[in-house]
Amino acid sequence: MKPLVIVTRKLPEEVEKRMAELFNVRLNEDDHAFSHDELLAAAREADILVPTVTDKINTDVIAEGGASLKMIANFGVGVDHIDLKTAKNRMITVTNTPGVLTDDTADMAMTLLLSLTRRTGEGERMLRGGNWHGWAPTGIRGVRLQDKKLGIIGMGRIGQALAMRAKSFGLEIHYHNRSQIDQQLENELGATYWSSLDQMISQMDFISLNCPSTEETRPIMSGRRIKLMKKHAYIINTARGDVIDENAMLEALGAGDIAGAGLDVYENEPNVDARFMALENVVLAPHMGSATIEARIAMGEKVIINVKTFIDGHSPRNRVLI
Ligand code: DGY
Repeated sequence: MKPLVIVTRKLPEEVEKRMAELFNVRLNEDDHAFSHDELLAAAREADILVPTVTDKINTDVIAEGGASLKMIANFGVGVDHIDLKTAKNRMITVTNTPGVLTDDTADMAMTLLLSLTRRTGEGERMLRGGNWHGWAPTGIRGVRLQDKKLGIIGMGRIGQALAMRAKSFGLEIHYHNRSQIDQQLENELGATYWSSLDQMISQMDFISLNCPSTEETRPIMSGRRIKLMKKHAYIINTARGDVIDENAMLEALGAGDIAGAGLDVYENEPNVDARFMALENVVLAPHMGSATIEARIAMGEKVIINVKTFIDGHSPRNRVLI
């Protein structure tokens, strides 16, 4: 008997087709997000579970999972929705899909940065609402990126890819990370390392969150740190909603204590705090950093390779655990 692989969401057609050729796979035809009970049932039955960021694989899902559950092969790079401690106790292998959505997510951070500073959302709303009455010298002026300071929190793959893009737009690159990046890369990017995050935040025109959501980073952009930002500074978040104190950010945005925010991720997805909708100085995207045709197929291929390697008795390359 082939191991049962249960996939919780609809994946790109070519990925599902290949999975069906290789594995005893149960797919999610109608793409509904699994309820907690459905996740429990899947964990009890599956040998290998393939979840996504929309599934809360918490303690009871893993603890009550069947004895046959040996692997969680996440479709996505972030694994903050999976209780890794319990998975480790149960000796369950956890894998993810790093490296294949780096450029797409960095592009999304640049998209948010540009739409925010050039006010394209506001412009489009004005035009579609029939409120544009033609070009005006003082109309819908934004701010220029050239020579401004971008502070990147989390200089991993995505942070570095953002830095490369931002440098070509004339931004000065600053970063805070657990450790300093390779000297040669730092020189190429002309990047400045700040060991003190507080000091970096207080000097920047833009802050971009590019760190994973972990016990140490929730919320790295706390209310206290948001207060350190310059009044004209903007926040960009393509990481996870909970790395920012969302309530404190909303208060700062509403009070004009910071200039704006470009967000792709939220604390309580898919619910987005209604207060955001009333703010003109925010650009909101629906968690779509990795949403390109290419990235989603490559993520699926990574899942397939991880699962196949595991089934064949080898250690998958993208192991997060065990
Ligand atoms: C990721 O890969 O973590 C993206 O946020 C989508 O899950």
